[in-house]
Amino acid sequence: MIDHRAEYDLAAAAAARLASEGFDGALAVIQTGSGIPMPHLTGAHSLPWTAIEGLPRATAPGHRGAIHHGLCRGVPVLVLEGRLHCYEGHEPAHVIRPIRVAGLLGVKRAILTSATGGVDPLLRAGDIVRVRDHLNLMGFDALTGIHDPRFGDRFVVLAGRAHDPDLADLADAAARKLGIALAVGVYAAVHGPSFETQAQVCFLRTAGADVVGMSTVPEITAAAQLGMKTLVLSLVANPAGVVQAGQSAESEVLETGHSHGPRLTQLVEEIVRRIGADARDGGGS
Ligand code: HPA
Repeated sequence: MIDHRAEYDLAAAAAARLASEGFDGALAVIQTGSGIPMPHLTGAHSLPWTAIEGLPRATAPGHRGAIHHGLCRGVPVLVLEGRLHCYEGHEPAHVIRPIRVAGLLGVKRAILTSATGGVDPLLRAGDIVRVRDHLNLMGFDALTGIHDPRFGDRFVVLAGRAHDPDLADLADAAARKLGIALAVGVYAAVHGPSFETQAQVCFLRTAGADVVGMSTVPEITAAAQLGMKTLVLSLVANPAGVVQAGQSAESEVLETGHSHGPRLTQLVEEIVRRIGADARDGGGS
């Protein structure tokens, strides 16, 4: 049985240690999805997750498992380079440890990128989707277990709170400025690691999904519990459940991240610049 009181102690200890090493004061945390490059940072200092007690080793392809602090377009940010997934065998409560550590460091905004399959037949590999809502079909809720109110409410209200409208507006404006087409859609989270059958893809479409992936929803839920604002940007790697003949799913996702990920990262950097400008105008943290 997961005890979130022990999870809190672990995350708080990691956050205290990171704060003492200068990882505090970030205006946003950015978590990178499969194969998607991290934003350019100046003055960065970094630690592998394995150097921090309680942060498990990331084993999924394209997920390094490191935390960085630095300036992105002049704005202090944290970057979680990589992500943990339940399909790797991690407990849901462990998957959310990195984002919880960021939250306990006082970061108020999370920008989460992810690779997905396109459920909407009009989506093509390389398209970027701003996630406006999600379906949790993973078969669990990452907050299951003995509750610790220091993380926030037990019954976290996601409707109208996760997928922050202000960050969404910033993302739309940033995409317009950069001339990047930004689709808007619903992310269905499944457990994985198997890709979906065609019948499941039909089911997901009927259920209202536009993209499908095996991650991100645990982090959205944990961030929402901590009162963080979230923005999810998904890169479509393939039509859901399908990869080109002769390709493995892994190589297709990583290749799309390699060829189209830099555009998504450019978008993230412009969003961060605008977060910095807004914070300066409004005096926010
Ligand atoms: N299905 C689930 N997850 C994914 C996919 C997919 O087709 N592509 C990238 N992540």
